[in-house]
Amino acid sequence: MRHIVRAQQFTPQLIERLFHRTKQFKKTDGRGFEDTLRRRFILNLFYEPSTRTRLSFDAAARRLGMEVLSTENAREMSSAVKGESLADTISYVTGLVDVAVVRHPQEGAAEEAASRNEVSIVNGGDGTGQHPTQAFLDLFTIEEFMGRLTNITLVCVGDLARGRTVRSLVYLFAKYPGNSIIFVSPPEYRIGEDIKEYLTRHNVPFSETSNLSETLEYGDVFYCTRPQLERPNPYGHVICDERMTEIRVEFTMRLVHVERMKPTAIILHPLPRTFELHPEIDSNPRAKWFPQAHNGLWTRMSILEYVCVG
Ligand code: NCD
Repeated sequence: MRHIVRAQQFTPQLIERLFHRTKQFKKTDGRGFEDTLRRRFILNLFYEPSTRTRLSFDAAARRLGMEVLSTENAREMSSAVKGESLADTISYVTGLVDVAVVRHPQEGAAEEAASRNEVSIVNGGDGTGQHPTQAFLDLFTIEEFMGRLTNITLVCVGDLARGRTVRSLVYLFAKYPGNSIIFVSPPEYRIGEDIKEYLTRHNVPFSETSNLSETLEYGDVFYCTRPQLERPNPYGHVICDERMTEIRVEFTMRLVHVERMKPTAIILHPLPRTFELHPEIDSNPRAKWFPQAHNGLWTRMSILEYVCVG
């Protein structure tokens, strides 16, 4: 039984195979694949809010002929309110579906569900842990626009302490030679030690700064993220209104920043955005976050096919 729970589990060979399939889906606008997973069932089990992840899994599944069950607010609308554990919920749904996409506020939740090996689990985001399918679509988008996955400087900007998409993307990005990473965040939102240790262990060059301006000329891919204000700060910082205002000013990407970037640079964001991408840069050719989000459909088709049939 196959599960997607952490980005580290993707090998470059698997990524290449799934990218090839993703390109077929995208090129044909998904036509002709309606019987691929006919009569299989997917459950979207979401204990946290989501727009893109849930809708794109839903659309991807339907395009492959799957039947879709969905709890979009499982924290309040499922038996979780009555005290049912995730483990019991998973044991129950085993008899109903082939795949469960689980989004949960607790880090490790998807891994725990997958360890039961009763139904294929796809991690749709586990607290501040990981979001491997988002990272997979981010990587696909990088290859699409840069034409390569090697010799790239990735600049990760924003809340690197709680952003799970950055964490997963770093694990994927570190698999390719010649890549380096610059982490740009307020000190209160700095990237976790576990990620830095991983990069050191795998000889991936990285640096950290809180000054966005000094990175602009160097980056090939700017990956911006929002502050995850719904989660506690892992370093225990309480950020007052004045400090938040400073952060907003320092970390809003505006035209003055974008115009200093390489002409070939691209700007990505997992969405939803808050203040960090000013609307004045929306029409800049480097702005790629909506094409990135649209790739969620095609990449998730290939992920569902892989999980169901290999
Ligand atoms: C992200 C998430 O849920 O981690 N959203 C997404 O899936 N595209 C990013 C976020 O919520 O900030």
